[in-house]
Amino acid sequence: MSDIVTVVAPVNIAVIKYWGKRDEDLILPLNDSVSGTLDTSIMCAKTSVCARPEFEEDEIWLNGKKESFSSPRVKNCLKEIKARAAAEKCVSDEFLQWKVHVCSENNFPTAAGLASSAAGYACLVTALAKLYKVKSNVSSIARLGSGSACRSVYGGFVRWHAGTSADGSDSIATQIVESTHWPEMRALILVVGDTKKKTSSTIGMKISAQTSELLQHRIKHCVPQRTEEIIEAIKSKDFPKFAEITMKDSNQCHAVCLDSYPPFFYMTEVSHMIIELIHKYNELYGTKVAYTFDAGPNACLYLLESEVPKVISLIKHAFPSSNPDSFITGLKSDEEVLDP
Ligand code: PMV
Repeated sequence: MSDIVTVVAPVNIAVIKYWGKRDEDLILPLNDSVSGTLDTSIMCAKTSVCARPEFEEDEIWLNGKKESFSSPRVKNCLKEIKARAAAEKCVSDEFLQWKVHVCSENNFPTAAGLASSAAGYACLVTALAKLYKVKSNVSSIARLGSGSACRSVYGGFVRWHAGTSADGSDSIATQIVESTHWPEMRALILVVGDTKKKTSSTIGMKISAQTSELLQHRIKHCVPQRTEEIIEAIKSKDFPKFAEITMKDSNQCHAVCLDSYPPFFYMTEVSHMIIELIHKYNELYGTKVAYTFDAGPNACLYLLESEVPKVISLIKHAFPSSNPDSFITGLKSDEEVLDP
């Protein structure tokens, strides 16, 4: 019988968005992306795994509900971890035969564009790696669950290199800087809605890759330069530059969704109000806040600690029923242990 292994994993919010795949099965992206990994205090996934000889089937519970283990992505992650464990001779062959039970929960809305799959798969893969005593880096296995999950394996700011190889061996995440490099950096999550999105990121990316000319322009002419520039801005702690690129890239990603045919939308009227509010704030005080939206209506604001009180009172003023105080966090450090 194995012990129960429990890990928590962080959410990451991209500032250069991954949108579009060059390989659907291996989950290889069309472009490089950059994200900040958020501290697990307000948003994280928690996963427990256990393998036993008496288990008859692999089973999975997501947020308290038993789900089918037939998802090819979940199965793929388990298969790859076991292959890695066998290659590294980490556990006995007998142990590898036992069925596994997985129990995973998020403390934030699932599938509402809050990077839940990134944290979920990073967590699943890290937990399985611990269970099977895999020593090597598991970022590329997390990628097989959900592309953006490969970035949640590191703290601070992270780059996912699209890579050019057919087998995905160079499509890996690397850390740009540790969270301690820019300790004043904060992320404020504004939960606009928690309903499941109509168009999953998988479907959305597929439609965009097949139909959007803007996407082709973006991956050739915008993302490569933006990626280099934002990395430079992060390294030199140039907040206005960092913020401008973040906002432009989020806007372009959502413009690609509109340019796709048929088009699909993730942002709502409230999301647009947030964009206007932040631009007004920045006009008044200089570029002090950046917004970014994933495949959903919820905003992530990146800002420096000194700006937090003013921005929180602005949000409360604009949206009186909101509760922004409990959704502020910093970047996650690599040194924090993954176990809860
Ligand atoms: O990894 P996925 O399939 O959940 O796609 C994530 C896509 C975005 O969140 C919109 C962008 C990103 O880079 O995280």
